[in-house]
Amino acid sequence: MKMDVQILKDYLPHAVKESRPFAAKGEVAAYIPELSKAPKEALGICMMDKSGVCTSEGDTGLTFTLQSISKVFTLILALMDNGEEVVFSKVGKEPSGDDFNSMLKLELVEPGIPFNPLINAGAIAISSLIQGKSPQDKSNRILTFFREIAGSDKIDINLGVYRSESASAHRNRSLAYFLKDNGVLTGDVEEVLDVYFRHCSIEVTCSDIARMALLLACDGTDPVSGKEWIPRRYVQIAKTFMVTCGMYNASGEFAICVGLPAKSGVSGGILTMVPGHYGIGVIGPALNSKGNSLAGVHLLELLSQKFDWSMF
Ligand code: DON
Repeated sequence: MKMDVQILKDYLPHAVKESRPFAAKGEVAAYIPELSKAPKEALGICMMDKSGVCTSEGDTGLTFTLQSISKVFTLILALMDNGEEVVFSKVGKEPSGDDFNSMLKLELVEPGIPFNPLINAGAIAISSLIQGKSPQDKSNRILTFFREIAGSDKIDINLGVYRSESASAHRNRSLAYFLKDNGVLTGDVEEVLDVYFRHCSIEVTCSDIARMALLLACDGTDPVSGKEWIPRRYVQIAKTFMVTCGMYNASGEFAICVGLPAKSGVSGGILTMVPGHYGIGVIGPALNSKGNSLAGVHLLELLSQKFDWSMF
């Protein structure tokens, strides 16, 4: 693996410039109306090394909501709250091969649990496992955990995006009520959905997610302070899901072209990492038909090929 920092710094502007035009071929997500306001042509990347220093390029000042990227960390919190046995009685461990919001398989398999924790149905089931006395308490615990691992007490919920999703989430509501009928969700369905919508709406920058990724790249321990934030076993589980399902049904293609654990969100964010070296945050709001950032994926392909990052 070629990791010369100066060569990387020199190459980044070129890679961003090469990748930005790919945005023209995609669309900004509009099924959550508030997300459609994002600038389509934007592209930014932040790479945080083990001393906590960021190398950045492009539109890294842009804020965006985590959306599905949050699912990696609610999975981790649910594992820390409940352990593996409880979590994997509610969600499976396999890629679904379907769209992220698909209902298809919930009625086709026995037991009728979501295929994995990174599709919407699985992440809603995970939201129901977060410990707390009330939905507000659960949401606060998630926000506090995310602030800790992002190393920023400034990150917060974007209430405009939260309200926009809550008002338009007919498909997620139908998934959640289906899960209730299958016995996967217990308790009040709207309360579980509220926890889910809120964590999807947590607003970040590329450097926030680069730092969250760096913790995963370092097996759950902050390389600067030496503090263990996440048990290594749960990081291992999260990274495995990122490789097999993190880019939804484009995960195989991403594994071949980039070869790193990654998680995308419909706001155009991608959290990825070079294990043991870098946490990486990318934003590029224009998406392909699978819901992944077009320019962002292209940028990661260029970097991975140039610096021989693939794990495989
Ligand atoms: O539930 C939803 O549809 C969104 N809050 C999150 C979906 C998402 O980010 C899928 N990612 N590519």
